[in-house]
Amino acid sequence: MEDWVRRIFIERADLFLKIMNERWPRTEALVDGMIRLLKDFGVEGGKVLDLCCGNGRVAISFAKKGFTAVGIDLSPTFIEDAKARARELGVSKKVDFICGDVRRLLSLVPKDSCFNVVTSVWTSIGYYTKSEDLEVFKQARQLTREGGILFIAETAHRDSLSLRVCPSSFTIHEDTVLVEETRWDANTSRLRTTWSFYAKNGDNLKFIDKITFEIYIYSLSELASMLKEAGWETVATYGNLASRQPFTPWTELNLVAKTIK
Ligand SMILES: C[S@@+](CC[C@H](N)C(=O)[O-])C[C@H]1O[C@@H](n2cnc3c(N)ncnc32)[C@H](O)[C@@H]1O
Repeated sequence: MEDWVRRIFIERADLFLKIMNERWPRTEALVDGMIRLLKDFGVEGGKVLDLCCGNGRVAISFAKKGFTAVGIDLSPTFIEDAKARARELGVSKKVDFICGDVRRLLSLVPKDSCFNVVTSVWTSIGYYTKSEDLEVFKQARQLTREGGILFIAETAHRDSLSLRVCPSSFTIHEDTVLVEETRWDANTSRLRTTWSFYAKNGDNLKFIDKITFEIYIYSLSELASMLKEAGWETVATYGNLASRQPFTPWTELNLVAKTIK
């Protein structure tokens, strides 16, 4: 496992959780948008596989809408939190959370699972090599029924990075200030980010930790051709799945793909 993956999602899961929790309020609209699109593609209800599920916002939202869902994430903290939230929200019978590495998907999920929907949300790709990403989507395809749908949602893409990288910024998450310093290398399509966390204490800030991570950012065409190799045909793109705003270089990438026979 990449060192930064362990640092940010396992060792300092407490810090990342504060940022991830802020995405929960927008999730119902996202999943409602996905469900409307699924109907357009003839998928009504069924089983969802949420890759890199974090603390379960997408899988739990699907479960609340009557789907059954399986979420997989390598962070024990996120998986424990997801299970606790599913219990609190009364959907623990509809959703299962597995702590494991999506690169070994076939060993984590029964081979006869037959999912109808696969999701990968919030730039959960580009962490490893391109061939490892390809393998994940190949394995997901093997676990999906004919006519199943894959969503890659809320994901950074190359055009948007080339247009607007903010070299440094800060945001406040509960009692923590996050200073973000970013370097975009258009030549290698790699985004290198350093996050420095500080505890707010009145007007003072006390340093907590610093983590640098580097991810590969796909262009739409590159991602679509990788998915094709994995058995998924890209059938639609949007800037936002809730509003169906069109995909442009200024928006996030939301991609809908269908299984190839
Ligand atoms: C940016 S977060 C997205 C979380 C979630 N999809 C969401 O939208 O809230 C990326 C997630 O990928 C998980 N992750 C990273 N590498 C993974 C791997 N190899 N297997 C499973 N999960 C992984 C991290 O633990 C983290 O929860």
